[in-house]
Amino acid sequence: MNETNTLPLSRRLKEATTSTHETLDQSIMSRNMFATTKGYRDFVLLQYRFHQHLDPLYRHEVLAGIIPGLEARNRFSLIQEDLNDLGEPLPSHPTFLPVEDASVAAGWLYVGEGSKLGAGFLIKLAQKIGFTPSFGARHLAPDPEGRGLSWNRFREAIDHAPELDPTRCIQGAQDAFRHVRRYLESPEDVLMHP
Ligand code: HEM
Repeated sequence: MNETNTLPLSRRLKEATTSTHETLDQSIMSRNMFATTKGYRDFVLLQYRFHQHLDPLYRHEVLAGIIPGLEARNRFSLIQEDLNDLGEPLPSHPTFLPVEDASVAAGWLYVGEGSKLGAGFLIKLAQKIGFTPSFGARHLAPDPEGRGLSWNRFREAIDHAPELDPTRCIQGAQDAFRHVRRYLESPEDVLMHP
């Protein structure tokens, strides 16, 4: 048996996306998105585009039975408030990305939930240019239970859900990163078809 296949799902997701994540980090930082208000606004718009796809997945019926506090983990409304703080109108583009399969959706959610870890670092940069958990950087604040506990609960939940198919989860996570990357490179694109 391939040794990789005995690893917990969260570990497999991390291994399958580590290099994609590193490239994304470098792209975001090289664009100075945390150095100026304009750069930061573009970052929050990027988050809006990504999270508009995640938003319905936080209400996924099957996943609600697997992941504790799923609905409360959703940061889409906080991103909208951040855009409002920044004086930025909400993008009015239509969005339609059908992700119904529970495994694929769990892969997408892994990317959204995992990014809350990186947010612990990003919020410090945002604070240097004036954005805080109560103004402009609401969506970068930790979940009420704390970043570590929230993340551990998410990981444990997906690691102990035999109904999730690892291959389709990985496909979902890679697709989510692909979307973020594409939105970063082409801010005018609001929708990618699977
Ligand atoms: C929208 C953009 C981003 C997405 C979607 C994203 C996604 C993720 C994911 C999925 C993880 C969890 C990895 C795991 O399984 O352990 C993670 C962790 C992390 N991310 Fe990001 N990330 C983003 C931006 C950034 C940026 C710009 C930085 C910093 C330059 C960053 C720094 C980190 C760090 C330091 C961790 C690990 C934290 C820890 O292990 O304590 N991320 N991110």
